[in-house]
Amino acid sequence: MNYNFDKFIDRVQTSCVKYDLRQTVFGKSNVIPMWVADMDFETPDFIRDAVIQRAEHPIYGYTFRDLTYYQPIIDWMWSHHDWSIQRDEIIFCPGVVPALNFSVLAFTKPGDKIIIQPPVYPPFFSAVRDHNRELVYNHLIQKENAYTIDFGLLEEQAKDAKLLILCNPHNPVGRCWNRSELEKIAQICLKHHVLVLSDEIHADLVLPGYRHQVFANLSAETDQITITAHAPSKTFNLAGLATSSVIISNPELRTAFSQLIEKMHLGMGNLFGSVASIAAYLHGEPWRLQLIDYLNENIRFAEIFIREYIPGLQMVRPEATYMIWLDFRKFIFDDETLKNKLIHEAGLGFNPGTEFGPGGEGFMRMNIACNRSTLKDALGRLHIMLSEIPVH
Ligand SMILES: Cc1ncc(COP(=O)(O)O)c(C=O)c1O
Repeated sequence: MNYNFDKFIDRVQTSCVKYDLRQTVFGKSNVIPMWVADMDFETPDFIRDAVIQRAEHPIYGYTFRDLTYYQPIIDWMWSHHDWSIQRDEIIFCPGVVPALNFSVLAFTKPGDKIIIQPPVYPPFFSAVRDHNRELVYNHLIQKENAYTIDFGLLEEQAKDAKLLILCNPHNPVGRCWNRSELEKIAQICLKHHVLVLSDEIHADLVLPGYRHQVFANLSAETDQITITAHAPSKTFNLAGLATSSVIISNPELRTAFSQLIEKMHLGMGNLFGSVASIAAYLHGEPWRLQLIDYLNENIRFAEIFIREYIPGLQMVRPEATYMIWLDFRKFIFDDETLKNKLIHEAGLGFNPGTEFGPGGEGFMRMNIACNRSTLKDALGRLHIMLSEIPVH
C-alpha cells in the first residue's frame, strides 16, 4: 500500500497545540507552524481503525494491559534494535517527559548533580531544576556543522554526578550517536557510578545511512545502569494518546521507578493509547518506511534549496528526527529580532534555538514533518526574508 504524505489535513480547531496555540505562542494566528514536535501527516489507517473499533464498544471503563500490549513492544525492540527485553522490564508511563521527571525523583536527591548535553530538548532542564537538583552542562561541541561530545569534560563532570540524561538520538541537533561514542559515554558512567537515563523517543526516526544504538544494549554492565524511555508517539504521530514505556533491567532501579508510578496511580493509562500502540507496533513498519523516505526527501529538498538560494544560512543535516537545526549566525540579528522577523515578516513559527539552552543562540529549530508544498512555501518565505540581509 502506498500512503499519501502530500495530503493536506486541516488541523485547525482540533485543540491541537501546533495550530490552535499559535496566537498564544507567536502572537499571530496564521504563521506556518513548524515548531512543536508532531507531524502534519494523518495517523495511518490501521491505527485509526483499531481505535475506532474499540470506540464502537460503548463503555470506556478501567482497563489493564496484558501481553497483547507488551508483546508487540518486545517484538519491535528485537526486530528493530536487536534488543531482547522481557515483559516485566517494561513499565508503562503516560509520557517520556513524565518519565524524565519520575527518574529524577526516583534516582536522585535534592542538590544532586545531573548532566545534560545542551543545546537540548527543554524539558531536560526543567526535569532537573523543578526538583531542585543541580544542572551540569556537558556542552556539545560544534565543528564544521556537526556536533560531537566533549568526553574530557564529561569524565570530569561524572566524578560527582548522579545521573546523565542522554538524548539518543539527539533533539535538536539530530545526531544519531554511533556505537563508539555511546561506548565512551558508558565507560565513563560505569567508572564513576553515574546512572544513564536514555531518552530514545526518536529511535525509530533514524534516517537512511544511520543506525540507532540502544544505549542499554551496549553491554550487560551498561544495561544495569540504564533507564530507557521509549514511545510510539513520535514515529506514528500519537502524542495526544499519552502512552510510553520505560524499560529497566536492573531490578532495584525498576522497583524504585514503578513504585513512583504506582503511588501516583498513573499505571492505568489511556485505553486508546494502548490500542494505538498495539496496532502501531504490529502493523506499522511499511508505513514507517514510507514516512522515513518522505522525511528524507523533505530534508534533501531543504538542503538543496538552502544551499542554492540562502547560502548564508547553515543547515545542520539531521541523522535522525524530523527537525532541522538552522544556524542564522552569519546574519546580523540578535535572537529577539530574528524571532520577530520570522513571525511578523515571514509568517513562520519555528522554535528559537535559545529554548534549547546554551549553544542555541543564533539558531532556530524547524519541524519539516509537513507536506512538501508547505515546506516549499516556508522555505520561499525564508528566502525572501533573508534576501536583503547582508551576511558576514
Ligand atoms: C527528546 C524528546 N523527549 C520527549 C519528548 C516528548 O515526550 P512525551 O510527549 O512522551 O512526553 C520529545 C518531544 O518532542 C522529545 O523530542
